[in-house]
Amino acid sequence: MTNPRIFVTRLIPEKGLEMVRQNADVEVWQDPLPPPYETLMQKVKGVDALLCLLTDKIDASLMDAIGPQVRVISQMAVGFDNIDIAAATSRGIPIGNTPGVLTDTTADFAWALLMAAARRVAEGDKFTRAGRWKTWGPIDFLGPDVTGATLGIIGFGRIGQGLAKRAQGFDMRILYFDTRRKPEVEQKYHAQYVELNTLLREADFVSLHTVLSPETHHFMDDARLGMMKPSAILINAARGPVVDPEALYRALSSGTIAYAALDVTEPEPINPDSPLLKLDNIVIAPHIASASFQTRNKMATMAAENLIAGLKGERLPNCVNPQVYARD
Ligand code: DGY
Repeated sequence: MTNPRIFVTRLIPEKGLEMVRQNADVEVWQDPLPPPYETLMQKVKGVDALLCLLTDKIDASLMDAIGPQVRVISQMAVGFDNIDIAAATSRGIPIGNTPGVLTDTTADFAWALLMAAARRVAEGDKFTRAGRWKTWGPIDFLGPDVTGATLGIIGFGRIGQGLAKRAQGFDMRILYFDTRRKPEVEQKYHAQYVELNTLLREADFVSLHTVLSPETHHFMDDARLGMMKPSAILINAARGPVVDPEALYRALSSGTIAYAALDVTEPEPINPDSPLLKLDNIVIAPHIASASFQTRNKMATMAAENLIAGLKGERLPNCVNPQVYARD
């Protein structure tokens, strides 16, 4: 019997790759940049499974290019807005993802962004490197206290709750908004459910933890940014398009809000000509919130486990479209 054929769209941590190699003939895209869509279309023809990343567009045409023999598409990420799930489900293709393992690492990073923005860490670093540090300045680099401030969390899932957990150590007042109230965790995190507008008006820090969907696309627009306090800081470690970048530029450059801290942008990578890059009151990281050694290893092994289960015709341990099994 011939081994199944797998295409992996980038070099992933070796532990996960090794697991896949033991079960299949594997081709790995070696370039540090993702395969262009047209190249990917060619590469995936006839494979039995695909291991992909959030940088790959996996739409209906790509699924058709792979062919009907495909048994699983396994994504090394928790988010899957790059994949047309409805198209996969209608073709009976199970889609795997990696929930849970990156919760703490991502919440840590969202917290790091919050602290970096409040205490102007990136600005201070640039200032020092530019040789501009001449003395201790009593009115230089002032920012708001984090301790005792009000944190507004939009999207109170695993990562949003992880941020609330961290905020408790800083005696913060924690407000949250979600599509559904979550009374079962409110006491644990000392978090209070409020209407969105109340959260925007009262929070000193607004942190976004929603999925990207048609409903959350450009969720933070001129109107919602306009409801925030002029002293408030916006944090986004969710998905770039949840924030309208043009509205954000207007808000930051006009003083509508004080600061922003982003791990994600629209587009990704951010256009080098983006006016946001000219502002001092923003810190931007290149989508690295889950980038710890341990977490990326776990994400890779989880993606491999999903892929191997799919190859064997077993239910994926983490499947985003379990409806495919209802068809059996
Ligand atoms: C994910 O897994 O969706 C994250 O964005 C990766 O950091």
